[in-house]
Amino acid sequence: MKLTYAGHSCFLVETKGKKLLFDPFISPNELSKGKVSADDIEADYILLTHGHQDHVADAEAIAKRTGAKIISNFEIVSWYGEKDLEGHPMNHGGQWKFDFGTLKYVSAIHSSVLPDGTYGGNPGGFVLWNEEGCFYFAGDTALTMDMKLIPMTCPKLDFAILPIGDNFTMGTEEAILASDFVETNKVIGCHYDTFGYIEIDHDAVKKSFEDKGKELILLPIGDSMSM
Ligand code: NI
Ligand code: MN
Repeated sequence: MKLTYAGHSCFLVETKGKKLLFDPFISPNELSKGKVSADDIEADYILLTHGHQDHVADAEAIAKRTGAKIISNFEIVSWYGEKDLEGHPMNHGGQWKFDFGTLKYVSAIHSSVLPDGTYGGNPGGFVLWNEEGCFYFAGDTALTMDMKLIPMTCPKLDFAILPIGDNFTMGTEEAILASDFVETNKVIGCHYDTFGYIEIDHDAVKKSFEDKGKELILLPIGDSMSM
């Protein structure tokens, strides 16, 4: 699996020859300017955790340009369906075998409304697994006991992508607990620095993870790594 960070909570994951774009918020993100462009990104699928603008901003344009299929909860996929965009609706606790692997839509504690005020269903996260690995993409969420269900119902995680910016989601200490709940010591941080409310001290946060025997990866925007 290859991961490219496009800023905020947006990652491009390449696996089994498919390109999966998670929570695209690129064109409005000042931090992504000059590093990633929403106009250049290729995607076969766009995975949306919830309806907030900072997770869906570029989804429509990228889906239109690339023909990518939108995967999200029923309400969000239906909303894009009315714009003639193809999608695959899911709901909490359900999983489906796609051509890139098995995907499960899991709980998140947050809110979810679409940019025009339409109800966006309940927010979620995803667990994805195939022969190349298994990871959890938490979306925007508080620490929740439901995370403990993930190691009981999914293969062993290789890593988790967790929000760490606090204020709107978990902060550092709770993300560390979340990594215990989902049973991984490797975390890739997201949902930090984009806005004033979620600015973090990178070194301090990394050290907090290290002190608990965990690794926190903060990928520079535009950088890729293989997992
Ligand atoms: Ni949100
Ligand atoms: Mn958000």
